[in-house]
Order: sequence, then C-alpha cells, then structure tokens
Amino acid sequence: MSTSSPAIAFQGVRKSFDNGRTFAVDSISLDIAVGEFLAIIGGSGSGKTTTLRMINRLLDPDQGTILIEGLTASELSPHELRRRMGYVIQGVGLFPHLTIAENIAATPTLLGWARDEIDARVAELLELVGLPPAEFITRMPSTLSGGQRQRVGIARAIAARPHIVLMDEPFGALDPITRDSLTRAYRKLHDRLGLTTVMITHDVQEAILMADRLVIMKEGRLLAIGTPRQLAARDDSDGVGDLLDMPRRQASRVQERLSDDPHG
Ligand SMILES: Nc1ncnc2c1ncn2[C@@H]1O[C@H](COP(=O)(O)OP(=O)(O)OP(=O)(O)O)[C@@H](O)[C@H]1O
Ligand SMILES: [Mg+2]
Repeated sequence: MSTSSPAIAFQGVRKSFDNGRTFAVDSISLDIAVGEFLAIIGGSGSGKTTTLRMINRLLDPDQGTILIEGLTASELSPHELRRRMGYVIQGVGLFPHLTIAENIAATPTLLGWARDEIDARVAELLELVGLPPAEFITRMPSTLSGGQRQRVGIARAIAARPHIVLMDEPFGALDPITRDSLTRAYRKLHDRLGLTTVMITHDVQEAILMADRLVIMKEGRLLAIGTPRQLAARDDSDGVGDLLDMPRRQASRVQERLSDDPHG
C-alpha cells in the first residue's frame, strides 16, 4: 500500500441493472482521502446504496475501476475486503438468530481471531457505543430498541478494526437525542481511530455536522462535491446552495417561532 493512495478511488464507474439501458450509477470518478469523512446525499433512487455496495464488492461495476488503498477492488477477495472495511447496512440488518455478542463478533470470528480476543473486543465495543456488556451480551436483536440495534450495527461494523467504514443511513431510525449523541460519538471515533468513513444520509444537517466533504448525487451522477462551506456558497442554478442552506433557514424559523410568541 502506498501512503499517498486515496483510501477509495472511483474511476469512471458505471453500474446498470438492465443491461445498459439505464445506469443506476453513471460515470462516477472520485477520490476519498485516508482519514476523510464523506457524506453522500441525494434523492431516493439516485444511486447512493449502489455506489456504496460497489466499494465492498457486494456489487461489481459494469465499467470503470475502484481502488481500495491503491489496490484494484476487483482483484481483492471478499475476505480481504472484509478485513479492510466495516459496513452498516440500511435498516441495521443484524443477524436475528445470533446474540448481540455473536453479531458483533461475526467478522472477527470469520477472520479466525482467538476466543478470548473476541470476547474482550465485544465487551470493549459495547462500552464504546454505550451499551453495558453485562446487560447486552446475551440478548437477541429482537429484544432491543431501534436505537440500541443501530449501536450494535456500528459496533459490529468496526469490530475487526477496519480502516474504512461504509454506512447506509446509520442513524435514520433514532430519536433526536440519541441521534445527536451517537453521531457525535461516531465522529469522535472516526477521528480517534483514523478511519475513512463514507456515510449515506438523507439529513442535510447531519451531513454538514459530521462530514468533511459532501457528495450530492442525482440520477446516478455526482451533481456536486465539496466541503459544506464550498457547497453552501455555490450559486443556485442547480439547487445545491439552496439544499445546503436549508438547515440554516429552518434554524432561523425555529428561532423566530420560539422568540416571538404572540400568545406569550
Ligand atoms: N438489485 C437491483 N436490481 C435492479 N435495480 C436496482 C437494484 N438495486 C438498485 N436498483 C435501482 O438502481 C437505482 C439506484 O438504487 P439505489 O438503491 O442505489 O438508490 P438510493 O440512492 O440508495 O435510494 P434510497 O435513498 O431510496 O435508498 C434505483 O432506480 C433502483 O431501483
Ligand atoms: Mg439506499
């Protein structure tokens, strides 16, 4: 691995599900730097999940190349990719028949870690995501709240100490307070562990608060890429500046409603 390689590079990547008549992902080229936190925003069906799934080879591109830490993804085995990447699936996706501990231990087990090393890692991760191990290790996913399951999903994704974490709407189903604390906790973790994170979200404010750079997808293409500040400053012919400014407009409406009460 060359130290100057991006963590992930897309080079002219296209993916079709109907033999090239329409492209779910169309000619994407993009470098994601080591240590970067990238958020992908875009309407339903714009190709976000397809893009993410090509990074860990749940899907392979029809055309173009994806490089992972300088290596061609199509030449890496799924085993190799799993060592490098964690994946938090849209809708959590815990294994329902496995305990919380077994869920978190899934990849380390697959990679042949020693039993006591796995047990220590599971306990450490549960602490990290704010679930007391003594209470949660033996529970089944069906007995957890949505927010607790999402925490387990994150713990499972980083269990094997990946360099890269892929997250598909990881905080979607959480109440606002849990969401706020978990998103902060995750960003700290990203920085502390030196991770490269690619996160899909529908929430513009969450993307602005968490990510170093944002990608806006539309109809399988990258409509815009940049830091939140760069995108917010764009002239608005394509709607990007407007989209990025939405949280600020909402905040000022909230401020107005709270400060100016005609019945107060
Ligand atoms: N396995 C598949 N077979 C056929 N079409 C697919 C498949 N997966 C995705 N598509 C199509 O590709 C397009 C992009 O889908 P994708 O799941 O990437 O969208 P998305 O941006 O993640 O949307 P959402 O925000 O709703 O999750 C959609 O039109 C979808 O119907
Ligand atoms: Mg999706």
